[in-house]
Amino acid sequence: MCGIVGYIGSREVTPLLLSGLKKLEYRGYDSAGIAVIENKRVSIVKTAGKLLNLERKLEEYSPTGHVGIGHTRWATHGRPSNVNSHPHNGCSNDFAVVHNGIIENYLELKEWLVDKKGHDFASETDTEVIAHLVEEFYDGDLVQAVRETLKMVQGSYAVGIISLKEPDILIAARKDSPLVIGLGKGENFIASDIPAILNHTRDVYMVEDGEVVLLTKEKVVILDQDNKEVNRDVYHVDWDIEAAEKGGYEYFMLKEICEQPEAFKKTLSGRIQQGKVKLDELNFTREQIKQWEKVFIVACGTAYHSGLIGKPLIEEYLGIPVEVDIASEFRYRNPLVNNKTLAVFISQSGETADTLAALREAKRKGATTLAITNVVGSSISRVADYTFYLWAGPEIAVASTKAYTTMLIAQYLLCVYMAQVKGVMPEEKGREILTALQELPEKAKKILDQKELYLDIAKSIKEARSLFFIGRGYDYNIAQEGALKLKEISYIHAEAYAAGELKHGTLALITEKSPVIAVATQKSTYEKTLSNIKEVTARDAFVIGVAEEGDQEILKWVNKAIYIPKIENTVSPVLAVIPLQLLAYYTAVVRGCNVDQPRNLAKSVTVE
Ligand code: G6P
Repeated sequence: MCGIVGYIGSREVTPLLLSGLKKLEYRGYDSAGIAVIENKRVSIVKTAGKLLNLERKLEEYSPTGHVGIGHTRWATHGRPSNVNSHPHNGCSNDFAVVHNGIIENYLELKEWLVDKKGHDFASETDTEVIAHLVEEFYDGDLVQAVRETLKMVQGSYAVGIISLKEPDILIAARKDSPLVIGLGKGENFIASDIPAILNHTRDVYMVEDGEVVLLTKEKVVILDQDNKEVNRDVYHVDWDIEAAEKGGYEYFMLKEICEQPEAFKKTLSGRIQQGKVKLDELNFTREQIKQWEKVFIVACGTAYHSGLIGKPLIEEYLGIPVEVDIASEFRYRNPLVNNKTLAVFISQSGETADTLAALREAKRKGATTLAITNVVGSSISRVADYTFYLWAGPEIAVASTKAYTTMLIAQYLLCVYMAQVKGVMPEEKGREILTALQELPEKAKKILDQKELYLDIAKSIKEARSLFFIGRGYDYNIAQEGALKLKEISYIHAEAYAAGELKHGTLALITEKSPVIAVATQKSTYEKTLSNIKEVTARDAFVIGVAEEGDQEILKWVNKAIYIPKIENTVSPVLAVIPLQLLAYYTAVVRGCNVDQPRNLAKSVTVE
């Protein structure tokens, strides 16, 4: 995720920015840069790659001054490159901007600036429009120009802005992206995250959505949407750096589980407009979609599990048969792929060797290839014909969580998009699914607000030698992901079974107190799953049921019930998997496992 740091005071700014950016490295990034107000200019030094590259560049020329902004970029719009790195400036080089977030209407704004106002753009980023807009609106008052700019942009942002026109101020603003102000003596700071400034101050202001902040070296003024000064309490940070990097969470995995509402918003950002899915990056035509007789979804691990949900989705709403393949199997079975195939490759990292090799194979056979990935500019995104980015932010824990749920959202969007372009989705159904997708952040938050519940449940299964997950349809698909999550981080053997398949063998393993996690959120299969739950209950298993809020019936048949908020049933797997993630997490914690780095496993598997 991108990182911002900014400084105004009397000290030399370049080393301060650099050390602040180093503290943000844990967030993941692919390029970095700084802008400093020097004597007669705003000097920008930026480069693709790690901070080491920036340091090397700074050895050639290191700007001197006392006001500056710095940024680590995690690419979303435009691949990682020198020119796409932040800070960005307008045409005149008098302004410099760093930005975290996504400007949804940047294409529209860019068009207006280029066609109507004669601006030239240097980069492919959404951020650059902010620099040009501030330049366009500047009329002797930087705060006012920033206000005018922010009125025009839709989306999320935390920004830091400096200008040669007013060299003694630093401006910051936020909407839906974190931003803090660090308070010093004769100096002040901005940062996207506390670790960047913790070496200099422990007193901070938390900036709220819609606020614009004016910093000088002596004072900080927070202005609300009506330009009125706001009184904010000082928050004193009492955590150490390591805890701060994890945002106060004990493990990155829990942080990432809890980041899901935000990640959902980002994946959805700008992609639903007036009841339709808008995917500029795909622009498929009706004819193109019609020619696809078959869809392949190919991936590994958790990404593969997400594809299992994409299959019934596409088959139901597009009427095209779908095969889901494990990438390491796909390549060796000579799959029937040709130029009437759409082959979708899902990968958080975009670097998984088997998925990449499978993608090359499908391309060679003439398929249209589409990557769904989280990492902009990754190998898979470079090879595929089309790419859908998740924009979920970097995932650090080995066990994937927010990437999985955003992969599901990506497939809902993709499916509705293709069905709408092809003209085969009833308007009402499309609206229902899209509305439900937009409800996800808030409903996921409800589950996360009660996350401590899962600690107790975890204690009740922590001694188990083996666990069973059961469900039907989508519930079975997330049961598979739940079992993988549990085994990879807690080292308890876990298997998922299609609930209807139990009595064909597995039931023999169910004895007194065998833990069974039964997922029963789908209305169409509910009664049948309930019968399967009764089968295991009759054998004295210890059953934990996952059901929709308000389901009283299940209480009669399970030892513990976990409820998820009610939501349109196609979309409910995104919510129903969260309790399974939390259960796996807390079980690993109570068993004393290293949650973020389970034994023998790696985050990115680049060998076949
Ligand atoms: C590894 C990771 C998993 C991940 C899988 C596929 O096994 O530990 O969390 O699901 O690779 O990775 P990808 O980056 O392609 O999604």
